[in-house]
Order: sequence, then structure tokens, then C-alpha cells
Amino acid sequence: MTVPFLDLKIQYQSIKPEIDAAIQHIIDNSAFILGKAVSDFEKGFAIAHSVKHCIGVSSGTDANHLALWSLGVGPGDEVIIPANTFIATAWGATLCGAKPVFVDCEPAGYTIDTTKVERAITGKTKAVVPVHLYGQAADLDPLTEIAKKHKLFLVEDAAQAHLAGYRGKRVGGLSEVASFSFYPGKNLGAFGEAGAVTMNNEQLAINIKMMREHGQSEKYHHEVLGHNYRMEGIQGAVLGVKLKYLNGWTEKRRAVAALYKKLLGDIEQIVLPKEMPYAKHVYHLFVIRVKKGGGRRETENRRDALMKYLNENGVATGLHYPVPLHLQNCFKYLDYKKGDFPVSEELAETGLSLPMYPEMSDEQVEYVCGVVRGFLKK
Ligand SMILES: Cc1ncc(COP(=O)(O)O)c(C=O)c1O
Repeated sequence: MTVPFLDLKIQYQSIKPEIDAAIQHIIDNSAFILGKAVSDFEKGFAIAHSVKHCIGVSSGTDANHLALWSLGVGPGDEVIIPANTFIATAWGATLCGAKPVFVDCEPAGYTIDTTKVERAITGKTKAVVPVHLYGQAADLDPLTEIAKKHKLFLVEDAAQAHLAGYRGKRVGGLSEVASFSFYPGKNLGAFGEAGAVTMNNEQLAINIKMMREHGQSEKYHHEVLGHNYRMEGIQGAVLGVKLKYLNGWTEKRRAVAALYKKLLGDIEQIVLPKEMPYAKHVYHLFVIRVKKGGGRRETENRRDALMKYLNENGVATGLHYPVPLHLQNCFKYLDYKKGDFPVSEELAETGLSLPMYPEMSDEQVEYVCGVVRGFLKK
């Protein structure tokens, strides 16, 4: 058997007539940029996340930038972000000319360690950007307190967390602004690049709407600085169709995760993802950790060896992420070093993402777990 890491084709096939008709409608009407399909999707996505405003943009990275830019983050400012995230979280700060300041993650849920945020705050800190990593919300209550106390903006990076929950509420409306990605492999994926920002503040929404379209209030009248961060019509149309299925797909992801946990729960050498008591996890990724040691060769990285064995046996895997941000070459100028964020570094060395997508069959999950067990017996 072969098990892909995710299968976008199978999802498309399941809703092909609806998707094809929605795309054809855009082409027939030459509604290529923004337009009704995008604004209808924005309304639906905002309702799904219990947030007042959603603004569709050109990618999650652009959403990261717009969120901080719209809050006035700029040169000389510092922005606190977790060391273990995708690089785009940091681009939000650097594109504003601000300095990213990293904080370690906590070892159970892998989101930013809220007990370590305060010591990273300086007189220059302007914002904190928790990431709802792998589909699990960061612990927002303590972060909200810290942000209030130090007069900082809280900005959620929800790129991996569509419909994820925090203490009974949906993410996306629990901070000043949130950013989402609709990169094709995401829980809600477009047919190209797309993203969104969500917020409850009306004035901010008005500003961001202008900023995504060259800062204009009306054609060729540019009120504020901006850029071209518009969402394409085809992406809005595809996302509008897919949004109707997102709840069901999310529950299927949770069922796949539950089966993995049932079948791998007794294995001492691996650590399974933990759903934190405050979170409803949407399992964008299913990241296990493979404990060090126990192999025949002392020097062997067990995670790498398991990954190789899975791949040789037809199971695709991923690494999220193999190099924490503070050790990336592009951030050498920030002068971090190995050992600064031990939990993130350990996760980078031992974390392994197993296949995860809503259409995964029980047989596929069972096969993956069988291969994992086969390896650990060796
Ligand atoms: C945590 C996080 N932030 C931001 C992004 C950027 O999104 P995009 O790929 O749509 O630019 C991603 C996407 O991979 C992500 O995982």
C-alpha cells in the first residue's frame, strides 16, 4: 500500500461538479479579481469564525504582513513570535521593517510558551504573534493578559487553524487581527495562493480593505499606503464551495487523529500530539515525536530512521519544521545560537508528521501504524 501525505485530488473529485461550475462562472463573467465570489466567501468565513470582518487577500504571508502593517508596526519595533513556526510568521514582522524576537514553545502543545513571553518584552515590543500551530490554538488567555498589561497588540497566526477552538470559541476573532492561509494543502485550501485577515474592529477593517488594494478609498484615490494584496475571483469561488464542507472535513481529521492515537497510544518510544484542555484541535498536521535512543546504533537519529523506513514502505511523511527560526541563516543577524530555545530545537530533531487528510481511510491509518510498529520492533 502507498499512503500519500495528503491527497488533494480525491477531495476535488468528491465535489468536482460544484467546483467546476463555480470556476466557470468566474470565467464567464471575467470576475477575476475580488468581486462577488470573494465577498460572499468573506461573509461566510467570518460567520464560521464568529468574527465581524473577513478580508480576502492574496496569501497567508501577505495576511501576516497586512495584519502587523495595519496596526502601525514599523522600523524600530519588535514583534514576539514562537521559534517553531513556518518562516512566514516572521516575514510579517520583517516586511514591516520590525525585528522578530523569538520565544520557545511549550513541550505539551508546541505553541508559544506563555510563561516565557514577558521576559522577551522590551520598550520596543509592539506585538505578540502566537501561532495556532498544527491546528491547535495557542493559550490565548494569558497572552491577552500580558498584551493588556504591556499595551501590546495580540495578532493570531491562524494559517493552520481554520475552525480551531479555544475555550469554546473559534480562533480568528480572539485578538486584534488574525491571519489565515488558504494554501492548497491547508485545511481549507484554494486552487492557488490565497489568504485572509479577520478582525472585529470596524475601523481596522476599513483600513485593511484599502491597504489590500493600493490604499485606495475609490479608484485612483489613495488614502493610505498599501499594496496589491487582492484575492483572485477563482480562489474566492473555490473557497466558497469548499467552506460548506469544512466542518465535515474537520471532524474527519479529528477521527483520523483519534484512530492514530488508539493504534499508537501504547508505544513508549513515541509521543503523540496532545489536545490541550483549552483547545479544539483541527489536526492540520499530525506530528509525533520519536524519542531519542533505543536504536541499535548510538548515533542514529531515531526520527530520521523511522522516516526513512516509512518512506521505504510507501508512507509519505513531513517535517514541521526541521530548523527552528532562530537557527535559520536569514536570521543570523539576530545573533541567536543553538541552545537558546531547547524545546523548539528538540521538536525540530524528533518531530515527524504522519499522513493526515480527511479522506484517509481506516485501512490507510492502520497500515501507517503497522509500519511504525514494524520499525520499532527492529
Ligand atoms: C503558520 C503559518 N503562517 C503563515 C503561512 C503562510 O501562508 P501562505 O503559504 O498562504 O503564504 C503558513 C503557510 O504555510 C503557515 O503555516
